[in-house]
Amino acid sequence: METMTIRTQTGHYPIYVGRHLLSKTNERIQSDYTGYYIVTDSHVAPHYLPIVEASLNGRKVYHYIVPAGEQSKNLEEYSKIITDMLEKKLDRLCCVIALGGGVVGDLAGFVAATCLRGVAFIQMPTTLLAHDSSVGGKVGIDHPLGKNLIGAFYPPATVIYDTSTLETLPDREMRSGFAELAKHSLISSPDFFNCLRKSIPDQSKLTAERVSAFLTRGIRVKAKIVELDEHEQGPRTFLNFGHTLGHAIEKELGFGKLTHGECVATGMIFAMKLSEACFGVELPVEEVKLWFDKLGLPVRVPDVLRADQLMEQMKYDKKNKNGQYHFVLMHAIGDLTTRQVPEKLVRQTLETFIQS
Ligand SMILES: NC(=O)c1ccc[n+]([C@@H]2O[C@H](COP(=O)([O-])OP(=O)(O)OC[C@H]3O[C@@H](n4cnc5c(N)ncnc54)[C@H](O)[C@@H]3O)[C@@H](O)[C@H]2O)c1
Ligand SMILES: [Zn+2]
Repeated sequence: METMTIRTQTGHYPIYVGRHLLSKTNERIQSDYTGYYIVTDSHVAPHYLPIVEASLNGRKVYHYIVPAGEQSKNLEEYSKIITDMLEKKLDRLCCVIALGGGVVGDLAGFVAATCLRGVAFIQMPTTLLAHDSSVGGKVGIDHPLGKNLIGAFYPPATVIYDTSTLETLPDREMRSGFAELAKHSLISSPDFFNCLRKSIPDQSKLTAERVSAFLTRGIRVKAKIVELDEHEQGPRTFLNFGHTLGHAIEKELGFGKLTHGECVATGMIFAMKLSEACFGVELPVEEVKLWFDKLGLPVRVPDVLRADQLMEQMKYDKKNKNGQYHFVLMHAIGDLTTRQVPEKLVRQTLETFIQS
């Protein structure tokens, strides 16, 4: 097991990463909470809820199971959970545990941040993507007008990441999470990027075992940025690499058609092309493209989407200021910057990218 500590201006918390940690949950969560409220989803519960509950045997434990998928990250589920907690007479000294992927983590975290003006919160991630979402303290739910529009910064008290849970993760979810791990390598250093590419060159090597070896490294990249900039005023935007076009594709296709990571994979290739156009540098775009392709990640904009609609959608990106497009760009792997890019250049590069 590896242990890391995240230290920000507002506090610090440990992250434990290792195999079979769920069965020892009791060893890492203090015993004096007045109640333990586990939020999980319908896919994760049958595999892992009994293990966590058995480990907390003897304590006052409740659970709530939401339907698996993004559609549970909404006001209705949020409200149902709060009602259930209040009906169970949980008080301010209780602890909410998120057992699942990013959906459960974001939803349960927002419940913990707001129920009774805030109760203790523990993340127990079970997806590869959640190496990203469980660290950094962003929690929230979706609004009918857009994703993640209601939320808070509410860091967990502890993150317990049992990597053996990745063994039951469907291949597609593994790929989606891997795109974020690849992003962490691209924004961090050529060394991380090359190691990851060598160890996991294609889909056949995208296994829980291989991926686990890089998890702490990926978490460290995110942790370092969060420590510098917890509230996303500066370098935290680098974590958004590939997300400007990625989010636009996700939104225009309709959520759920492609996974978040799949959209971000295409977005990262585009961000590299745009970086070349902006800075006149040469980046290993073709290598990354080939790598993603071998991993089964999409490297092209889906045929049904047009440049116009993506340009329009990218206008809503949260990095934009005064209606101007802003992108996270790279001078080289590990050397990032956030810049305003003229609309004409974005459009030209996008049109060429769509045709390529
Ligand atoms: N807070 C943040 O900083 C942050 C960062 C990135 C993404 N996110 C959010 O994370 C969410 C996506 O997270 P996700 O990709 O983990 O999705 P998810 O939580 O929906 O999990 C993906 C699917 O895998 C299933 N699953 C989870 N763990 C499993 C396991 N061990 N075995 C079998 N099945 C399992 C789930 O039931 C679900 O069907 C989005 O809502 C996104 O907005 C948040
Ligand atoms: Zn992302």
